[in-house]
Amino acid sequence: MFRDNKAKIIFKNEEQIEGIKQSSILAAKTLKAVAPFVKAGVTTQYLNDVCKQFMYDNKAKSATLGYHGYPKETCISVNDVICHGIPGKYELRDGDILNIDVTTILDSYFGDTSTMFTVGEVTDHARKLIEATKECLNIGIRQCFEGNRVGLIGVEIEKYARSQGYSVVYEFCGHGVGLKFHEEPEINHSTPEDLGPVMKAGMIFTIEPMINAGKARSKVDKKDNWTARTIDGKLSAQFEHTLCVTKTIPFVLSDIDNEFDIPSSVY
Ligand code: MF3
Ligand code: CO
Ligand code: CO
Repeated sequence: MFRDNKAKIIFKNEEQIEGIKQSSILAAKTLKAVAPFVKAGVTTQYLNDVCKQFMYDNKAKSATLGYHGYPKETCISVNDVICHGIPGKYELRDGDILNIDVTTILDSYFGDTSTMFTVGEVTDHARKLIEATKECLNIGIRQCFEGNRVGLIGVEIEKYARSQGYSVVYEFCGHGVGLKFHEEPEINHSTPEDLGPVMKAGMIFTIEPMINAGKARSKVDKKDNWTARTIDGKLSAQFEHTLCVTKTIPFVLSDIDNEFDIPSSVY
C-alpha cells in the first residue's frame, strides 16, 4: 500500500543498519511492554495508549499516527480483522486473538514488528492458526539470503500455509523499511507473478504474513477506510519481523527473543 513503484531499493550502510536495528528493538520491546495488559475487559484504545507511552518514554515516535491519515499509534487487529484494525472502544473478550503492530521512528530510523496475543482460553482452532502463521514467518525468513529472489519468500510461505489448510492474504504485503516506512521492494506472502529482485546484503525489509482460516480475500471497512477483515468472517493471524539480508544468514533486527542466530557481519 502507498508504495512508490518507481522508487529504488535503498541499500543500507553499517550506520543505517545499526540505527534501524535500534528502532526495531524498541518496537519489539513495545510489544513486550503491552503484553501484561492484554486481558478480557481491556479496550484496544487502552493497549494503544500503553504502546504510545512506551514509545514516547523511549524517545521514539509512532510511524502510523498520521500516516496517510491513519489516526492511532498502533494497529490492533482482533479475530477476523486481517490488519490495520484501529484501536478504539472494543473491549477484549475471553477467546479473542489479536495482532498488535508497532512501527517506531527512533533517531529518524523506522522499525516495524507485530505479534499475536490471546485472551483467556482460546480454541485449538485459533491456537493452530497462530502457530502456523508464526511458522510461515520463519519459513519466509529462511528464504532470505544473497542471490535468492524475493518472490521465493511467498512461494514457500504459501506452500506451507496451504498444506495446513489455510489461505494467504495477497492484498497486503511486506515492504522495504528503514529510512522510510514503506520502501521497495514489495514482499509477497504468496506466489507472485514476477519473482522480483535478487536479494543482496544491505537490503532491509519486513516479512508479515497474514494467514486466514477461511478464504484469502479481504474487505476494507467502508466507514473507516482502514480496517481490513476476512470476507467470510473467519479468523486471521499475522506475525511481522524487520530483517536485513547479509552475506550469510538473515539478520532479524526485531528479534529480541534470540529466536534467530546473529550473523558475524553484514558485508
Ligand atoms: N505497520 C503496518 C505494516 O506492517 C502498516 C500500518 S500502516 C497504517 O506495514 F497506516 F495502517 F498504520
Ligand atoms: Co510492515
Ligand atoms: Co507493521
